[in-house]
Amino acid sequence: MVIPERKIEEVRSAVNIVDIIAETVQLRKRGKNYIGLCPFHQEKTPSFTVSSEKQIYHCFGCHAGGNVFKFLMDYQNVSFVEAVKAIAERVGITIEYHEAPPTEEQTEQEILYDINTVAARYFSNNLLQSLPGEIARSYFEDRKIKVQTQRIFGLGYALQDWDHTVKFLKENNIDLEKAKYLGLIDRKDNGDYYDKFRSRIIFPIFSPNGRVIAFGGRIMDKAAVAKYLNSPESSIYSKRKSLYGLSHSKDEIRRLDKAILVEGYMDLISLFQHGIKNVVASSGTALTEEQVQMLSRYTKNIVVFYDADTAGVKASLRSIELLVRQDFYVKIAELPTGEDPDSFVQKYGKDEFDEYIKRAQNFLEYQTAQLEKQGKFEDPAQQTDAIRELVQSVSFVNDELKRSILIKSVAKKFNLREKLLESELEKVLAVSKHRSELKPAVKEVAIEQERSLDKIAVVKEKSASPVERDLIKLLFEGDKEIVNYIFTYIKPEDFSNSTVRELAEVVHEANLHGENILPAVLIEKITDEKVKEYIINISFDKYVLSKTWEDVRPGTAENIILQKFARDTVRNFRLNLIETELENLHNQIISSKTESETQELLETKQRLIHERRLVQKEE
Ligand code: GTP
Ligand code: MN
Repeated sequence: MVIPERKIEEVRSAVNIVDIIAETVQLRKRGKNYIGLCPFHQEKTPSFTVSSEKQIYHCFGCHAGGNVFKFLMDYQNVSFVEAVKAIAERVGITIEYHEAPPTEEQTEQEILYDINTVAARYFSNNLLQSLPGEIARSYFEDRKIKVQTQRIFGLGYALQDWDHTVKFLKENNIDLEKAKYLGLIDRKDNGDYYDKFRSRIIFPIFSPNGRVIAFGGRIMDKAAVAKYLNSPESSIYSKRKSLYGLSHSKDEIRRLDKAILVEGYMDLISLFQHGIKNVVASSGTALTEEQVQMLSRYTKNIVVFYDADTAGVKASLRSIELLVRQDFYVKIAELPTGEDPDSFVQKYGKDEFDEYIKRAQNFLEYQTAQLEKQGKFEDPAQQTDAIRELVQSVSFVNDELKRSILIKSVAKKFNLREKLLESELEKVLAVSKHRSELKPAVKEVAIEQERSLDKIAVVKEKSASPVERDLIKLLFEGDKEIVNYIFTYIKPEDFSNSTVRELAEVVHEANLHGENILPAVLIEKITDEKVKEYIINISFDKYVLSKTWEDVRPGTAENIILQKFARDTVRNFRLNLIETELENLHNQIISSKTESETQELLETKQRLIHERRLVQKEE
């Protein structure tokens, strides 16, 4: 279903976001904004802010944020279309949306979902009802998985012979080539189809919305080497983008504002059965960036349970890095040797398991403890490496304050000199900053030279400069005059940081076509969640106005302050651009080969210096 963009805007502008949110969150006025306790995470002091002016909300605690539709989507767990319809209904706007004829691709996907659903039901019946399913039923009995739990997770059983599934699919008029594409069946050289899953316990894999996108099939033999057979990638299943169990656990994760990460399907199911329902499973590999991003919609707190005696250690470390980089608060829990979450909770129960969650250490303490166990702090030569490893982990944390707290905690716990850790951290951060600023050609050489620090350094994109940040903030003030002023002097492609560039383009486009430039409207055009978050964050950042201008000339009207601020910022930005260009010129002059070339460059330099003087003099 497609609602025309114009209609969406009509609905959005018919309500005030403050009124809608005030129905569920107690808001009080503070300055121009309204604040209250965030409904998306647990807190005691309000960090949830709603702007009537910009028609958006933002939580400084959990970083939830968006316009009125986003609020309903997250709060009531509804889709975008449902959110628009809900508001349209209350204000009496009729949406004459047409069921858009599904595109070919959509129809194709629907067919694939249907095939998987039919197959899942078939496997489930085999397990719960069929005679030969007895073997699977007793397998689950052995593993203490209740029938009720089997139903909740849609577990099933694939029969032993080679063509049970094929027959079933045929009887149900299913396109066998499509079933083959989904990995349910395959084809022999002679053209006959045969079942891919035979004699296996079946775990349907769901999308976060609860649709069956793939299957995992486990052999019941305990000693088998390759236990699992999984569906191949398809247009409805991407392993990188799916997280086992999320469809079942997302509400609880949000409610508790915490997720527990385990490795196996069985771990997840077993914990769930014991009432620990905020769990997701990584399916034995490292988390991917997409998975972490998906999870971050529900919480930023995670407790990782990983199997210390598998090769999974490496995968887990990689997962931790990804999580920390995406601002998760990561803790590691360790179970007694030989136990995994499934076996542990079966043996000792929920309360004992909760104890282990409570005892989880923050990722850095955990890493330090591991190094200590290995005796790395006793031998001075090894100690350097160990400290570097720790500092490397700290450098993944984006927030400066958090970094310094981490350094302090490690120093204290292990009796290391704080200064030592700090100066090492400085080095690591400097290297990664330095690198990101070097021109591509020079970068290669620098990386060569810094080989010893190679593991530590991370090449990051140049982050937005304070001036760029100010400009973006100004562009998202919803003031047409200011937007026009900025784009008179600056083009979106002038920005050095790609995120900032993208944002500037969104405003530029809308402005060019005479569209509404209110933040609540603009953010609807941004697809990347991270970028959306960034802009909402920045929109609520009041540092500019209060600190710089209002203090200086109290009582000045705000739009005057804004205009003056815009002028100064644009000027600074232009000066920076000229400065960078001059620097480049300087390098070119040094390395220029012919006199005429040098001459030309020098003239350009003079022109730029002249321009710089003009810009400086502008009022
Ligand atoms: P149980 O042995 O029944 O307790 O299974 P488990 O789900 O606890 O699995 P385990 O902890 O051994 O492995 C963790 C996860 O890694 C599994 O849930 C699977 O997602 C994945 N996995 C394990 N073995 C294989 C395999 O042979 N092939 C594939 N594709 N995935 C596997
Ligand atoms: Mn297991």
